[in-house]
Amino acid sequence: MQVVSCNSFGPIDQLVFEEHASVPLSAGQVRIAVSACGVNFVDGLIVQGLYQLKPVLPFVPGGEIAGVVSEVASDVTSHAVGDRVFATTGLSGGFASEVVLPAFRVLHTPDAITDGQAATFVQSYCTAWFALRLRARAQAGERLLVLGAGGGVGLAAVDVGRSMGLRVIAAASSESKRELALANGAEAVIDTSSEDVKARAKELSGGGVHHVYDPVGGALAEAGLRSLRDDGQLLVIGFASGEIPKLPANQVLLRNRRVTGVDWGGWTITHAAENASMLAEVIAAVGRGELHPVQPRSYPLADVAEALTDQVERRVVGKTVLVP
Ligand SMILES: NC(=O)c1ccc[n+]([C@@H]2O[C@H](COP(=O)([O-])OP(=O)(O)OC[C@H]3O[C@@H](n4cnc5c(N)ncnc54)[C@H](OP(=O)(O)O)[C@@H]3O)[C@@H](O)[C@H]2O)c1
Repeated sequence: MQVVSCNSFGPIDQLVFEEHASVPLSAGQVRIAVSACGVNFVDGLIVQGLYQLKPVLPFVPGGEIAGVVSEVASDVTSHAVGDRVFATTGLSGGFASEVVLPAFRVLHTPDAITDGQAATFVQSYCTAWFALRLRARAQAGERLLVLGAGGGVGLAAVDVGRSMGLRVIAAASSESKRELALANGAEAVIDTSSEDVKARAKELSGGGVHHVYDPVGGALAEAGLRSLRDDGQLLVIGFASGEIPKLPANQVLLRNRRVTGVDWGGWTITHAAENASMLAEVIAAVGRGELHPVQPRSYPLADVAEALTDQVERRVVGKTVLVP
């Protein structure tokens, strides 16, 4: 089988494309012939050694896959050869033509979505669902400003927000990202490369938004905080800009605003059962066509360095997959 291997932490172009022998199955396991490996921003951080958690070297990066079951252990009854499936593999293991996992971690792909969508929606949509429903407890009719709205977790927040009846303003730096956010349910957009985000958000929302969803950080975070109305909350999702913002506390005090942390990854470890039921709700909503994960752009698996570089250098619109 073909794998991408990270043999040392460092520049993305140090990743190597290797041939590995397949391992025999143990009890309870299934083998998946992978057709799509989802790429996430965090993968680029992990291989450079820039993420807070570091897999043991050498490792195969990638955390989301979809494909077809090619073999099942003799005691597995939940899956059969030929089933369309998808799975998350954790911090590593996904950028490969073949993946072996315990059957209980392998989910059946809803008919409504392609393998590319199945390999790219779990991390993005669970983050957005967890943030907007469980952390923010957002209500239909409220105004939501999504920063980084043309990226993975941002675009998912546009879609989840729309499905909850929120009125979504999408902020992004390029026309193609803003167009995609409009197609996914945003009712208005802000060009972060040329417009005053605070002024435009207040104008578009009639005085301030209820929630700001911020996966970008840096200077945009403070603009987001200043866009909030009374009792509004800033949801801290991530720092794709590379800059962890220092927010002025007076802007939190004014108008009784709130700043809310969103650590979906950490929560999955401390709340495994709740996360499993949340994931089941997300998958059901995708299966019913209430949520619409974006169709990703494809790169050959061997072009992993190009795909990850495009991701960390802000060129990705929506999501991408590596295809073995
Ligand atoms: N809290 C959680 O549980 C959780 C879960 C998943 C991911 N995250 C985090 O969320 C962040 C975004 O992840 P993602 O998958 O949505 O990434 P992504 O698809 O690459 O999107 C990130 C967006 O951030 C913006 N950005 C601004 N400055 C950037 C820069 N210097 N480099 C790259 N992007 C920049 C870009 O939008 P514009 O071009 O429009 O500015 C880009 O589209 C990451 O920090 C990730 O670790 C957090």
